[in-house]
Amino acid sequence: GQILGIEGTAWNLSAALFNRDLVSLVSRPYHPVQGGIHPREAAQHHASAMNELIGTILTDPEKVEGIAFSQGPGLGPCLRTVATAARSLALALDVPLVGVNHCVAHVEIGCFATGCKDPIVLYASGANTQVIGYLNGRYRIFGETLDVGIGNALDKFARAKNFPHPGGPHIEAQAREGTYVDLPYTVKGMDLAFSGLVSAAKDHKAPLPDVCYSLQETAFAMCVEVTERALSLTGKNEVLLVGGVGANCRLQEMLRVMCEDRGAAFFVPEQKYLGDNGAMIAYTGKLMLESGVSCPVESSRINPSFRSDEVEVTWKKDPPA
Ligand code: ATP
Ligand code: FE2
Repeated sequence: GQILGIEGTAWNLSAALFNRDLVSLVSRPYHPVQGGIHPREAAQHHASAMNELIGTILTDPEKVEGIAFSQGPGLGPCLRTVATAARSLALALDVPLVGVNHCVAHVEIGCFATGCKDPIVLYASGANTQVIGYLNGRYRIFGETLDVGIGNALDKFARAKNFPHPGGPHIEAQAREGTYVDLPYTVKGMDLAFSGLVSAAKDHKAPLPDVCYSLQETAFAMCVEVTERALSLTGKNEVLLVGGVGANCRLQEMLRVMCEDRGAAFFVPEQKYLGDNGAMIAYTGKLMLESGVSCPVESSRINPSFRSDEVEVTWKKDPPA
């Protein structure tokens, strides 16, 4: 059956219909007037765009057999706006409701889009930087950022240099002309930290393209190191890159080289499935509903700090031991 999914944890209010494949995907992104994302402004944007968005996607309401929404992690005011809309839709259409973990959804749509089976996932987005892999019924987090997400780190540097938001693509463009200067590299065990790197980059006196290039090289090398260690720890032989920062060609190249060296396969989904999108929520919601999971309206509270390893992965069969 057809599942309607709504995503809106941060900047992108997006809805999709998923059947066996993607039926339709509509997005109404919020663009901050100035600076970064303001949670209440983003939520107001989502609230005012919601009716038109749902009207556009919901051409055949009688075909919809379930409503999925992003339950967390994300910005509280944004999550509440999306959850409220999802609850009213489920009640109005009299279909089950399911709350989806946003990180798990990035991973699932990445697997769907690329055909990879059991990857180590580098989830590199604005607010999140995690290295994830499936083990014994859960998506485990092998390593993650101890401070800010890599995308937010790049955006913070970009703001200090007066690049438009989001800054990631502008840093990537500048970096093409750059050469290497030394910046602090921080990997602690399996975890990463970006704020010292950003401060040092902001204060660096080298020409801007050199600093952009070196900021990317350092931040991405940190991510690749932890991804490689997770591969070797688990013995898995696939790497999947997801999250908005995954659009970066240099990050893709560095992961591809690491994978070639190790004889692992590298996967990255097409752009529309990389950053936040409604399709990932609809698709994961469908997997969950078909495995018997749903979420009664009474227990559909949002969870701004929802972690991927809190989700019982009911839709995946473990390989026989
Ligand atoms: P999440 O809630 O999962 O943390 P998010 O709300 O931050 O996600 P995404 O769409 O996953 O949203 O990622 C947005 C981030 O991706 C921004 O920080 C942006 O700068 C970054 N980004 C986009 N394109 C590029 C690029 N080419 N290079 C580097 N960073 C990029
Ligand atoms: Fe995301």
